[in-house]
Amino acid sequence: MERVKVGIINVTGYIGAELARLVYLHPEVELASVTGRSAAGQELGKVFPHLSDINCLITAELGDVDFAFSAMPHKASAEVILPLLKRGVRVVDISADFRLKDASEYKRWYDFVHPAPGLLEEAVYGLPELYRDKISGAQLVANPGCYPTGALLALAPAVKEGLIYPDIIVDSKSGVSGAGRILNLVTHYSEASGSASAYSLDGHRHLPEITQELEMLNPELFLEVTFVPHLVPMARGILTSCYAKLKEGKLAEGEKGKEELRQLYRDFYGDEPFIRILDASPQTKHTWGSNFCLIHPTIDLRTNRLVVISCIDNLVKGGAGQAVQNMNLMLGLSEPTGLEALAIYP
Ligand SMILES: NC(=O)c1ccc[n+]([C@@H]2O[C@H](COP(=O)([O-])OP(=O)(O)OC[C@H]3O[C@@H](n4cnc5c(N)ncnc54)[C@H](OP(=O)(O)O)[C@@H]3O)[C@@H](O)[C@H]2O)c1
Repeated sequence: MERVKVGIINVTGYIGAELARLVYLHPEVELASVTGRSAAGQELGKVFPHLSDINCLITAELGDVDFAFSAMPHKASAEVILPLLKRGVRVVDISADFRLKDASEYKRWYDFVHPAPGLLEEAVYGLPELYRDKISGAQLVANPGCYPTGALLALAPAVKEGLIYPDIIVDSKSGVSGAGRILNLVTHYSEASGSASAYSLDGHRHLPEITQELEMLNPELFLEVTFVPHLVPMARGILTSCYAKLKEGKLAEGEKGKEELRQLYRDFYGDEPFIRILDASPQTKHTWGSNFCLIHPTIDLRTNRLVVISCIDNLVKGGAGQAVQNMNLMLGLSEPTGLEALAIYP
């Protein structure tokens, strides 16, 4: 049987390059076309020596494909996707351009007027653990942001089951690849190595996405989310720590309550292929290069506060891996195909 022809728009960024690696290793699809503005006309393997086995020329325009990933920056992504949708191509957009349901939020958080507000309702938010059935039938899937992936997977069971009060703190630490491959003083070696910093204290762009999706899980909660991202000196990975007061009487007291909480998380995620509920707190290194999200829910018994720690690789479950997971669902393939690799350790 002929393999599905897949294209990557903007292969020259970190997400695009990671997608090329994953699509090349995928047994049921073929990497047919890759675009990149600065490297058009060059061989992919020359630009990225770790991809030298892939025989593919980087072009300015996307060739003939059945399925496309866009790894463009926001705003530019919507512009390249709209003509593809008209041609009937199925698309996973890894930018933020179709994640928010309210078009006015794009002006507020991303500073552009959305070119196709009518598509925002149609686009499916690509978190398979919450929207698997809708993703399967979608033409356009909006791949979640890296921080929202870690935060939503950590909080979804507690919010859905009404375990917590609405005042939630999400504290995330990201490796510098989260800021992309574009040169930026903040991510220079001498600025970022041996240093950790908080940023976007007045509101990060991923906040409306986190709030939108938590509210969908429990519209009666009237959430108040404080989200503070941090930059830490590592290439990949996001560690997210979430805190919220537990409602009284929802769980048993003491250690038994902690066990009940972990069981509730295990029941919520059931046989999810990429979620693991752990008895101890994970490290970012435990997800390096893999599509897994490791989650440790527990209770601070002194304050009766829920504490949930999650770990992902921002370029895999937080980006390219989740995009391939969505592609598998959209093409009717087995969901974990091409994504079974365990993390690289140490
Ligand atoms: N990094 C992550 O962890 C992560 C996770 C989830 C989602 N995302 C999203 O995925 C997308 C790609 O992120 P990334 O981290 O891979 O970015 P990146 O490494 O910074 O790559 C961005 C590249 O886009 C190209 N570019 C910039 N403006 C362009 C334009 N107007 N038209 C065409 N090309 C343009 C540039 O490549 P040339 O020099 O070749 O033009 C630039 O190097 C973004 O929307 C980002 O928000 C990123």
